[in-house]
Amino acid sequence: MRTDTGHVFKLEDYRPSDYLIPKTSLDFRLSPDATRVTALLTVERRGGVATSAPLVLDGDGLTLLGVAIDGHALAPADYLATPDQLTIPKPPAAPRFELRLETEIAPSSNEALMGLYRSSNVYCTQCEAEGFRRITYFLDRPDILSVYTVRIEAPHNEAPLLLSNGNPVESGVFADGRHFAVWHDPFPKPSYLFALVAGALGKVAGSFTTLSGREVELGIFVEPGKERLAGYAMDALKRSMKWDEEAFGREYDLDVFNIVAVSDFNMGAMENKGLNIFNDKYVLADEETATDADFANIEAIIAHEYFHNWTGNRITCRDWFQLCLKEGLTVYRDHEFSADQRSRAVKRIAEVRTLRAHQFPEDQGPLAHPVRPRRYREINNFYTATVYEKGSEVVRMIRTILGPEVFRAGMDLYFERHDGEAATIEDFLKVFEDVSGRDLAQFALWYHQAGTPNLTVSSSYNAAAKAFTLEIEQSVPPTPSESRKRLMHIPLAFGLVGAGGKPIAWTTVEGATVEDGVIHIRKRRHTVRFSGVSERPSVSLNRGFSAPITLSVQQKADDQLFLASHDSDSFARWQAFNTLLTDVLIAAFRQVLGGKQPAFTVKLAELAGRIAGDEALEPAYRALALSLPSEADIAREIGKGIDPDAIFGAREALALAIAAANRESFEALYLGLADNGPFTPDAASAGRRALRNILLDYLSLLPEGAALAATHFHSATNMTDRAAALTVLAHRHAGSRQAQEALAGFEARYRGDALVLDKWFLIQAGVPGPQTVDKVRALMQHPAFSIANPNRVRSLIGTFSSANQTGFHGADGQGYRFFAETVLEVEKRNPQVAARLATALRSWRSLEPVRQDKARQALLQIANAENLSADLRDIVERTLA
Ligand code: ARG
Ligand code: ZN
Repeated sequence: MRTDTGHVFKLEDYRPSDYLIPKTSLDFRLSPDATRVTALLTVERRGGVATSAPLVLDGDGLTLLGVAIDGHALAPADYLATPDQLTIPKPPAAPRFELRLETEIAPSSNEALMGLYRSSNVYCTQCEAEGFRRITYFLDRPDILSVYTVRIEAPHNEAPLLLSNGNPVESGVFADGRHFAVWHDPFPKPSYLFALVAGALGKVAGSFTTLSGREVELGIFVEPGKERLAGYAMDALKRSMKWDEEAFGREYDLDVFNIVAVSDFNMGAMENKGLNIFNDKYVLADEETATDADFANIEAIIAHEYFHNWTGNRITCRDWFQLCLKEGLTVYRDHEFSADQRSRAVKRIAEVRTLRAHQFPEDQGPLAHPVRPRRYREINNFYTATVYEKGSEVVRMIRTILGPEVFRAGMDLYFERHDGEAATIEDFLKVFEDVSGRDLAQFALWYHQAGTPNLTVSSSYNAAAKAFTLEIEQSVPPTPSESRKRLMHIPLAFGLVGAGGKPIAWTTVEGATVEDGVIHIRKRRHTVRFSGVSERPSVSLNRGFSAPITLSVQQKADDQLFLASHDSDSFARWQAFNTLLTDVLIAAFRQVLGGKQPAFTVKLAELAGRIAGDEALEPAYRALALSLPSEADIAREIGKGIDPDAIFGAREALALAIAAANRESFEALYLGLADNGPFTPDAASAGRRALRNILLDYLSLLPEGAALAATHFHSATNMTDRAAALTVLAHRHAGSRQAQEALAGFEARYRGDALVLDKWFLIQAGVPGPQTVDKVRALMQHPAFSIANPNRVRSLIGTFSSANQTGFHGADGQGYRFFAETVLEVEKRNPQVAARLATALRSWRSLEPVRQDKARQALLQIANAENLSADLRDIVERTLA
């Protein structure tokens, strides 16, 4: 485990290295407990300039066996090696020399899953961000670009397959049963993109002909016997390759492109050049084992990693502060891809729900940081929703401000100008300034300033003057270490909506720049006056979620109701209904807190019924509209004094009111959507399943609900329907005979399929109520559970702590105590996964006082533990600060 030095890395301290490593040759003799790594590095003085600077290479837990320069072994006095650093005080004066390093590592005892490790007998690597230094000493920073040649040698029976980055150049077998392969990657790359895979894997082959007619050989490697589960991923890969050519003019550049699925992986996947490595959860799928959400994730992540080939690999990051340069941009690209492959309207709503669920609480709590941070202690803790999702929103806003053609011209210039470089956010913004002639200095605050901006809006209409006025005021709440905020440039898309949903025209506007349906907010206050407005409009704001902000609008409920039925912008229409639901739920929460039974107006339930049955709307859209704000969504909107039990009570009461008011129409719709015909994973079919399953969710609250859900479960012909029914049974009818039988049946059916059993763990970890903590403890003893496997830990412990509001935040504090113990237990093996788990308490200050105090005790228990990793210490200390 990496020791916590307490060192804080600062953006302003960046300086280029004194040395470069233009060429790297690696030789691996693989063995589970003692892998020999020989690195031959061509080291150059930057610019050929003589310097007296020592050569200092990064390491992490390494054992050095030998070091030589230009073929001569160094005497012990000529270097200083610790597990974490190799220093050569006086390297040769020549402009270039060859450094040979020999290290020994033990992949089989690497449980942190960084560097070279073993996953189910497969050797694999994860080097981003700083895992390469666990393999050999190196200048392990993204601005050191090197051309790699990699030779791998292993016993053929243990590792018949030997893969690395680039193109295969040579292979051979020895008489003793060993064999080798050599790979060469002609594109200079940073060390974090290095990868190696070796083991016995099954292959799914494919091919792709690029724009210019080059043939690329595609391979997806999976656990032998699971090849047929990789078909969807292969198809998604081909569609991604095509899309990047069409949408961005980006062609693939090597002769081969390989993807490997492994079962122990810290994150989702990794874009290593020509050799992407994936969490198997994001590769393997068929209708029997994967839900529609799994299919959509696979498509998005395959695309994401593939798109990194240009945004990340060909153009990489100068330093880790620039992480959003590749991540925010690549998320934006994968979002656009999914929008084109599926339904743009539905995709946008889902993106915003995700942003609000994950990024807003981050931005509004103790872990807030700018999209481009200026400080970090442990970079792994900055692979966040802010860097990824808000980073994507910032790119989207650039496109909104410049328009699609100028945006594309800017992207073209970015690829042309920076190909082969390690770039910065300033470089990225500059290309858009150059192609548009605009000054983006104020806009750049979106990268530099943390916090979610808020716009307060009120409106008035003067019928005599035919004038409509919007009063808009911006504010950015303070965030840790940034108490004073500067005014931002917020592109606010809007529409004035008249009777029947028709857009209302105006003749002139003053008080702000308004272009193509976007009001450009740049000052603290704008009084935006539209003249020539012939009727009183309802105003639709932040259409398409043009900016990642919160809105406080003084708008009548009638206007919201009107927009929820008539807004021509599908996002804003969904938003209007969602806002109505949220407002009602907050009122109900207060009634429950006051000991009252919450009451609801019939209007809202009626509207829900109309949306459910509106054939003009896509089923997927209707399903999203009907899915109530989550308990966490409601808590975020309330902001403080959170009592999760009262939120739960309010939400269940509203669900029941909607179900009761629409019983007949919901039943008819539900029956009409019955699953028929062969399964296809496309968006339209998935949308029908989603609508049917949300209807089941409502109907399950009515008498005979458990029986209905049980029938749904037993007659399901795909995992989407089966998992939906199991969730309804386990969450709404916990303890019922039907729930017990379904859970037992599911376990028996999928015993031996770890990825499917993750769903079984997840569903049980989410059962509402304070008793679930004991169940989770018990499930940790289940033979399929393993605390060393990140997917198991996330399904059981992660779901409990981040998605079960009434279980985790039980008033007795048992959930928190269990959490503290378990985080510390996970940390012993895998600090990165433990640190990620620990963020579940980031909103502890918004809890009511009793829970707040108990949550704080749990955080202190973690903070006071001995020998904390840098990863976990960083998260807990910032959370408590
Ligand atoms: N670059 C990967 C991606 O596509 C994420 C890898 C993060 N891994 C880590 N250990 N921090 O998003
Ligand atoms: Zn990425």
